[in-house]
Amino acid sequence: MILESLRLSNWRNYEATTVSPGPKTNLVVGVNGAGKTNLAEAIYYLSIARSWRGSDDKRLIRDGAPSCYVEGVFRKGGRTRKVGIEISAAGKKVLIDDKPIRRTTDLAAVANVLAFSPTDVPLFSGPPADRRAFLDLAIGRENPTHLKELSRVAQILKERNAALKSEFRNDGYVEVLTNELIAAEKPVVLRRQAYVGRLIPAVRRVADKIFGRERPVDIIYQPFLDPGNGYEEAAKALYRDTLEGDYARGTTAQGVHKEDFCVMLDGLDVGGRGSQGENRILSLALHLAPFFLIEDEADKPIVVLDDVYSELDEQHAEGLTTILEELGQAFITATNKTISGASIIEVADHKAIRRE
Ligand SMILES: Nc1ncnc2c1ncn2[C@@H]1O[C@H](COP(=O)(O)OP(=O)(O)OP(=O)(O)O)[C@@H](O)[C@H]1O
Ligand SMILES: [Mg+2]
Repeated sequence: MILESLRLSNWRNYEATTVSPGPKTNLVVGVNGAGKTNLAEAIYYLSIARSWRGSDDKRLIRDGAPSCYVEGVFRKGGRTRKVGIEISAAGKKVLIDDKPIRRTTDLAAVANVLAFSPTDVPLFSGPPADRRAFLDLAIGRENPTHLKELSRVAQILKERNAALKSEFRNDGYVEVLTNELIAAEKPVVLRRQAYVGRLIPAVRRVADKIFGRERPVDIIYQPFLDPGNGYEEAAKALYRDTLEGDYARGTTAQGVHKEDFCVMLDGLDVGGRGSQGENRILSLALHLAPFFLIEDEADKPIVVLDDVYSELDEQHAEGLTTILEELGQAFITATNKTISGASIIEVADHKAIRRE
């Protein structure tokens, strides 16, 4: 998949700019504050209609402007399609080939973008919810059913928690909801487990290249229960054991909504023990790994890496550059960097211009 052209109108610090990127590595260069991250964020936004910085959509609109518009023309196989997103005080409109779409998950088929930004570095030391969100988003891109199953779990949990909090205790009703929950949770655990299993070799491959040598890297997924044989019985027993506690707190203490995974380096949890650079490298490896799980060339995502070189020493930076050669189209922002053969997009004076 390739982004053939990008148009920004009142997007963050850009008033109006259009750029046609190269088909392989694009180095996005400019001084601090020029708008490199804003440009990278726009490309990612086209794939998910959400900012990676978790910003409120209105903050994406250039100060003083009433609305903003970001547009990307994507080529996949022989087909070209346009994604346009407009944000205004009234909300956002997402269009594919000028037609409004109903679900933003439809974007992934047209604009699949893998992104990594410095805000992803603390992934391993941050809250479990961030790790679950990463995992579920990655799985959901491959299989949107996963997201539907997760919303079903969330819906049942909401009802169960409301029943737990109710003044009138109703054990029969809570049991019905618990059984529904158990059934809805099983496919979620199975998918997460299978996906982590596939991610491990891909993460190792990227990490080995950046480290420049083999280091033992592992991902440990912690399911709330083993989804194999005897799952239903074990789940019923678990929810029975925690029932009184759940009533006391008015919420469900166990389930897929509490799961977690950790990444191990040299046998230790990188979130607790790893250096800043190790956290950066492994988080980057984890974010890039899904690229290597997609076999069809036309489906391979566009990769956006914001500010990845700034904290890597020379040797690790070189390792990262060898990975870029294996990617398809990529956007790498940097203040000061040369990558031989890369296209250059220069950002200055609120404009992005292709130089080479
Ligand atoms: N909604 C907005 N309206 C106008 N300007 C904005 C808006 N949001 C952000 N900016 C400005 O955009 C500028 C560029 O930000 P950006 O983070 O893209 O820079 P950068 O090139 O990535 O810099 P660095 O090298 O420091 O990472 C900042 O000065 C910021 O204040
Ligand atoms: Mg930046």
